[in-house]
Amino acid sequence: MPDKNIVILISGNGSNLQAFIKLQNTEALRGRVVAVISNKADVYGLHRAAEASIPAITIEHTQFDSREAFDAALLLEIDKFSPDLVILAGFMRILTANFVTHYRGRLLNIHPSLLPKYPGLRTHQRAIAAGEQYHGASVHYVTEKLDGGPLIAQSKTSIEENETVLSLQRKVQRLEHNLYPATANLLLIEKIRLIKDTVYFENEPLQENILF
Ligand code: GRF
Repeated sequence: MPDKNIVILISGNGSNLQAFIKLQNTEALRGRVVAVISNKADVYGLHRAAEASIPAITIEHTQFDSREAFDAALLLEIDKFSPDLVILAGFMRILTANFVTHYRGRLLNIHPSLLPKYPGLRTHQRAIAAGEQYHGASVHYVTEKLDGGPLIAQSKTSIEENETVLSLQRKVQRLEHNLYPATANLLLIEKIRLIKDTVYFENEPLQENILF
């Protein structure tokens, strides 16, 4: 089976992107990163892509009159690379229904919480403040619902007594760099798929999130 095409969307640092670059074209990730697209110019993730000789493209959302117009331009650019998989890796934009529908079943996001807990921003701070014992990250298919698409896999870590937002962020990010490519690979090797709103694992509905 030839390696599949992965397009990665970013808005910033790109440490998750780096994890994909490191593993691409191996047994651990049966795909190659064919393009990296950012909605912000000059972010560090674009340099990581260029360093790895991957097309690093900027499409600034501020140049468009509407969300629809930006998403339409983004979609056209992505499709030039015939993606089997589109990865949102710290891409800080809400996507239109049209965009999300176009990539249904091949669009993934990672969110720094154990969804359905803590959708939205400042998840680490909120988990600490609520006295949670555990925090982590989740990978889900993207559908029209923000941070609410069908869950595939999670990784969790404990919140220690002296945990700070920064230390928790670091721990969760380390988990993400393993969790995200590993989950993406399940899709690339066709072990998981999305049918309607249900995740299937080896042709059976997934009963519980996969834990990495
Ligand atoms: C990650 O922590 C991810 O959970 C969130 O955005 C962050 C992106 O970090 N969606 P990076 O740009 O991959 O370093």
